[in-house]
Amino acid sequence: MPTGGFVFPEGFLIGASTSAHQIEGNNVNSDWWAFEHRPGSPVREPSGDAVDGYHRWRQDLDLLRDLGFTAYRFSVEWARIEPQPGHVSRAALEHYRRVIEGARERGIEPVVTLHHFTSPRWFTGFGGWAAPQATERFAAYAAAVAPILDGAVRYAATVNEPNMVALMHTLIRKGGADTDFARLEPDDDLSAGLIGAHHAAREVLRAACPDLRVGWTVANQVYQPEPGAEDACRAHAWPREDRFLEAARGDDWIGVQSYTRTRVAADGPLPVPEEADKTLTGWEYYPAALGQAVRHTAGVVGPDVPILVTENGIATDDDDRRIAYTGAALAGLADAMREGADVRAYLHWSALDNYEWGSYRPTFGLVAVDRTTFARTPKPSARWLGAIARDRRLPA
Ligand code: NOJ
Repeated sequence: MPTGGFVFPEGFLIGASTSAHQIEGNNVNSDWWAFEHRPGSPVREPSGDAVDGYHRWRQDLDLLRDLGFTAYRFSVEWARIEPQPGHVSRAALEHYRRVIEGARERGIEPVVTLHHFTSPRWFTGFGGWAAPQATERFAAYAAAVAPILDGAVRYAATVNEPNMVALMHTLIRKGGADTDFARLEPDDDLSAGLIGAHHAAREVLRAACPDLRVGWTVANQVYQPEPGAEDACRAHAWPREDRFLEAARGDDWIGVQSYTRTRVAADGPLPVPEEADKTLTGWEYYPAALGQAVRHTAGVVGPDVPILVTENGIATDDDDRRIAYTGAALAGLADAMREGADVRAYLHWSALDNYEWGSYRPTFGLVAVDRTTFARTPKPSARWLGAIARDRRLPA
């Protein structure tokens, strides 16, 4: 591959991502915790202590620094910061302020997400993203977080994967069962609510934090048309993804989150073929998706919005496969950058094996976590990616 030896530009960040609910543990005021524990919940296991990230953050930051990473993306938890509407927990804010400062002290750039799939129960209780108060409530939450970001954080994301959030809530409305998720289109009121909330929070953050660059992170599913299915593919991609990318046109950056592709026929998306090479999530092994997702995103948001790859990774127990996947994904990213895409960061999903929304398997982590002792053990992929981060250079 011609990308061997590719050197990322000076200042390019290489690191890993997590989210609050997936690592912290005992996120008891969140809607997800309620969902995990409701009678008949479809989740295989509840999140429980997760990987005790709320208490082990110093150790985790030490580990990321020692591995050579220059950035860490994590989320602050709305359900902890505002457990009741209008009641802001100073203790929770202080906790996250220390994490941000801890990252900085270790030479790690913190990339902070305000909302990563979980909301306080009260927010979901009054109707969530489609409710008339959603914009105002989310903007108020952003205002509460702003003081810990100001002067300390360069990159903040409002909502993680708003397109997935809209789809999941549409699915819940439809009752879940018998719904073909691959062909589902998100309800318009949910999508509009999320976009409105993003824009409102963005303005609040910009006004309060002059140096902060605000964006959001979209699930980029690379839709590939079968011959003759170009129109169907475009129509499908618009409500699922492109609408949310277009909403980022005025943003300071856009986050690309890429794992795999979906092929689309004239009558809609196709399932992953039986014979395809699959990962533990059942997704097709397709590392070329990253470069394609970056090109597509750049095309939709335009040349003025820099890109951060905020997630990319593979669910596997075979760490050699993780290295092979990531190496191929990075080669595709390098090609896209050589062609002119303005990419500023690569953040692997995930730093740690963690709670994958229903169970502790499949595992995405660069670092293994013992489920009983919470001991962290870096996998070879962590050292491999850490070396790339240190050199800012792909292996020859
Ligand atoms: C996207 C989500 O942001 C993250 O929470 C999830 O664990 C990964 N994809 C893998 O499914």
